Amino acid sequence: MNTPEKSYQAAHEIGRIYDAITDSKILNDFFLTTVFQLIPAQKGYLFLVTQNNTLLLTATVPPPKEAAPELHKAARKAFDDGKPAACGRLLFLPVIARNSPMGIACFERGPESEAFSAKEVEVGFDLASEFSGALKNILLFEENLKMERLAAVGQAMGMVIHEVKNIMQLTRFSDEMIRMGLKEKNNTYLDKGLAKMAKSLKEMDGFAFEMLSLTKDYQLEPEKMNVAALLEELSSDLFERAQGNGIRLDFQAEPGFPEVEGDAGGIRRALLNLVKNAFEAFQDRTAACVKIRSRVVDAANYEIAVEDNASGMSEEVRARLFEAFFSTKGKRGTGLGLMVVSRVVKMHRGEIEVESSPGVGTKFILTLPRSFPK
Ligand SMILES: Nc1ncnc2c1ncn2[C@@H]1O[C@H](COP(=O)(O)OP(=O)(O)OP(=O)(O)O)[C@@H](O)[C@H]1O
Ligand SMILES: [Mg+2]
Repeated sequence: MNTPEKSYQAAHEIGRIYDAITDSKILNDFFLTTVFQLIPAQKGYLFLVTQNNTLLLTATVPPPKEAAPELHKAARKAFDDGKPAACGRLLFLPVIARNSPMGIACFERGPESEAFSAKEVEVGFDLASEFSGALKNILLFEENLKMERLAAVGQAMGMVIHEVKNIMQLTRFSDEMIRMGLKEKNNTYLDKGLAKMAKSLKEMDGFAFEMLSLTKDYQLEPEKMNVAALLEELSSDLFERAQGNGIRLDFQAEPGFPEVEGDAGGIRRALLNLVKNAFEAFQDRTAACVKIRSRVVDAANYEIAVEDNASGMSEEVRARLFEAFFSTKGKRGTGLGLMVVSRVVKMHRGEIEVESSPGVGTKFILTLPRSFPK
């Protein structure tokens, strides 16, 4: 015969299975089913309370998921009472975790069946208590996840606004130059203004690409790619900034580097992010240099390596490099740059290797397929 001690132990054992379930829907159904095995009944209902204090029928065994209005009313009363109760052929078990009422489970027997016994109420209550704890943990976890997502969206919006403002500043500056050039009929101003406008358009384009590359919709646009020309263009785009910061640029493809296939816009953006990171890692500008070399590895692959003699990074930073929003730069960094790099490289089915020593420098090696996998 089942002693109270034994059924308490059984409930506890089942509770350990409840704790191992991570999906609330599965847990709810499983709870109703396990109660059924110990306390025979015709139908089981689980009502959970919503934020505006209504009881929502969340699970039933067996289906369909519906409850008569009288049952709803009785469940409400039992929920408000907050105690287990057997009323003839209905059994109510409150779902309460850490003193907060979460809902009420209800079990119904057919008219010809016996009423629920005091023993059955006790067994049911033990199971409901175990279930309540497990459900509370899942709900807390889901709530945390939502908060984290919300925070991530906020963070991403902040970054987008910051970047757009930077580009707008450049556009405004070009606009002023062009106006001045027109007003004073000065071609130097006009040329400078137009060049800055072209730069800000390029930056806007690149930024739009970066945002797109992080979405699910990102698709590669493979084409024939001249890596040597791409490196030359990148070097000239970055020249002014590098010179202003006392950094030497040394970008070269090995002699005779062949034409390859790939998404030139994506590769350009990935390299730009790596070079920007290198720029930002210099503390000491003596002999500061950023090198890019591209070479053929074998018949199938080529490699582009971006190397700096800047600060290098610690083991911990290296381990977290590609995490979204991981940055050691405070407000100056969003921690998305290397995600863009990794996304572009992965979409090409390539690989990234990182070598870095604190105080010596860092080298990112991208290995990419020479022809684009169809
Ligand atoms: N060449 C490098 N030398 C030293 N540290 C680096 C280098 N490249 C990346 N890191 C480290 O990796 C972190 C993540 O880089 P990532 O480009 O993803 O973000 P970020 O540069 O901080 O911000 P964002 O690129 O979004 O403006 C950096 O904050 C930095 O600590
Ligand atoms: Mg970066």
